[in-house]
Amino acid sequence: MIPRGEAGIFDPVEIFTHHNPTRLVQGVGSVARLAEEVARIQRRCMLVTGRRAIRLNGLLERVQDGLLEARIESVLFDQVEPNPTVATVEEGARFAREKSAAWILAVGGGSALDAAKAISLAATNQVKFEDLLGDQRPERPPLPVLTIPTTAGSGSEVSPDAFITHLGQGDQVRLSSPLLFPRLAILDPAVTATLPEAVTVSSGLDALCHAIEALCSKRRSVFSDLLARSALDRIVHNLPRVRAQGDDLGARAEMQLGATLAGLAMADAATLVPHALAYPVTVRYDLPHGRAAAILLAAFLTRVRELLPDRVAFVGRVLGGEQDPSAALRTFIESLGVAPRLGAYGMHEKEIPLFVERARTKPMLEPTPGEWGPEALADIYRLSL
Ligand SMILES: [Fe+2]
Repeated sequence: MIPRGEAGIFDPVEIFTHHNPTRLVQGVGSVARLAEEVARIQRRCMLVTGRRAIRLNGLLERVQDGLLEARIESVLFDQVEPNPTVATVEEGARFAREKSAAWILAVGGGSALDAAKAISLAATNQVKFEDLLGDQRPERPPLPVLTIPTTAGSGSEVSPDAFITHLGQGDQVRLSSPLLFPRLAILDPAVTATLPEAVTVSSGLDALCHAIEALCSKRRSVFSDLLARSALDRIVHNLPRVRAQGDDLGARAEMQLGATLAGLAMADAATLVPHALAYPVTVRYDLPHGRAAAILLAAFLTRVRELLPDRVAFVGRVLGGEQDPSAALRTFIESLGVAPRLGAYGMHEKEIPLFVERARTKPMLEPTPGEWGPEALADIYRLSL
């Protein structure tokens, strides 16, 4: 008899592929391994980071010291804003070329990592960056990118994607290429211990969405399921703990591992309609990506419940509400101090058609089970108001 997974829904008898080229160095204190990890590069590094956060806890100095110890010269680009724009990427690419940077070390949250990945491609391809965001294939490979994530959530450290805000389009646009997988991620939970509560919660909710969307994806596999299930369990149990006590290193380590596992699951299985719908909301209302995606995911679960009854029930069970998984997710979101409705952030029904126009062109629709015409997309927004 063939052994079956939980409730018979995780079928181990299938062909699957998994590829992720990012080397992980993970654990408390692992930032101290930077010099050892980069010692053989011996070429000029461009540090890419945000404007403030990493100066607060001395991380920037520790990273610069690590590079010095490895005898690596570095130049600093610290102009990345939350939800980085096309203009920032172009400025970063100019800076990289001017300074003859040979590789990039991104230190920060998902925004810094995404900006670094986009800059790495824009620096070597002297075309308009907007064209690279469109259909134009890059002629040259990007600069190598290494990362030290300071949040637990985006999964960007193990993904081939970068999301860049296009103000003209009022949207976040995906840049995606296997060439954009970072070479290395140093994941030190101690680095996340001083994150503000709001960032801890937003990035943690993003990771939660990656795990649940990977479980529901048409591209899921038995392997991505393993990653996503383990991620979901860790995130649900540890996100409330790190919110309550930021310096609980055990919970931070579990949360960071959960977020990385969710990122690996996402890199295999993709994100779905909730992510597609979240991007225009984030740009319009400045609502952090993880919060927007989680609110939309609650409504999405009610719509895919008929198609994926066992999987949605599994998600509900982990969240403590198998009878009504959507309500369980909203309760979880609310328990983290986040209003679980988009109306609370100012979204009005009259904006739905415009957001639907933006969302319906997104690549996340293809791996989503079910039919996702404009009416179905609008319905998720309406259920989330
Ligand atoms: Fe995300």
